[in-house]
Amino acid sequence: MLRNTRDSWGSLARGLHWSVVTLVIVQIPLGFYMVEVYEQYTKTYADDTLVMRTSMGHHTIGLLVLSIALFRLAWRLTNQTPGLPASLRTYQRYLARFTHVMLYVIMIVYPLSGWAALSAYEGEFPIFFFGWDGVPRIVPQVVEGEPFDYPFFAEIHRNLWRSGGLLLGLHVIGALWHQFVARDGVLRRMLRGS
Ligand code: HEM
Ligand code: HEM
Repeated sequence: MLRNTRDSWGSLARGLHWSVVTLVIVQIPLGFYMVEVYEQYTKTYADDTLVMRTSMGHHTIGLLVLSIALFRLAWRLTNQTPGLPASLRTYQRYLARFTHVMLYVIMIVYPLSGWAALSAYEGEFPIFFFGWDGVPRIVPQVVEGEPFDYPFFAEIHRNLWRSGGLLLGLHVIGALWHQFVARDGVLRRMLRGS
């Protein structure tokens, strides 16, 4: 079923959840690799093909994550959602809710900070969405050294993988706890529905 029910996630919510997981698994190593490619390139300024290819992949995947997150949030807010198992204690409910809210925040702030960094960049550097290299800037271009310049947003962007990783770790431990300790079907309803 496309829609969620009182007991389980519908196929759309599940599909969106696992497509973000897949994209993020590719995106994080690609981000580090892209930065390495930049560093190599600034030594010679020879061939920029790899700079453009890795950037195209990284920007596109990031903007896809952003779009999916916004759509997913809208879908979630206009649908019923399965409740947490009745056996959970109050602090466990708080922990689950906190982690989920923060994961939504990260899915939105992570790509926005990368997009803002390139937007602020004072030189000409394309922002890609697939083959389109004219993605508009979301903040004004700023000379380096002024407030809200490229390094400002890039620093936020670079630091997010720690807090993101911590949350994700908590989230995965939660999922495994439901599966193997509480055995309450919470992982199953996100994998296959009820
Ligand atoms: C889910 C979304 C995203 C994730 C998880 C992600 C992850 C990363 C990671 C892990 C790095 C390497 C950081 C480092 O070297 O310390 C990086 C770098 C970078 N990303 Fe992203 N990124 C995302 C979205 C985006 C988007 C949408 C853009 C731009 C449109 C972007 C632009 C950049 C830039 C410019 C850098 C280099 C920053 C620097 O100067 O060090 N990212 N990203
Ligand atoms: C990029 C990685 C991930 C992100 C951003 C993410 C995000 C989220 C969010 C925001 C929710 C809450 C859904 C809602 O209430 O609207 C959720 C639910 C869930 N996630 Fe993840 N997740 C990720 C990876 C994983 C992984 C790797 C697992 C399994 C090991 C997992 C298992 C679950 C389960 C079982 C639920 C359902 C909880 C319930 O039914 O109450 N997630 N995820």
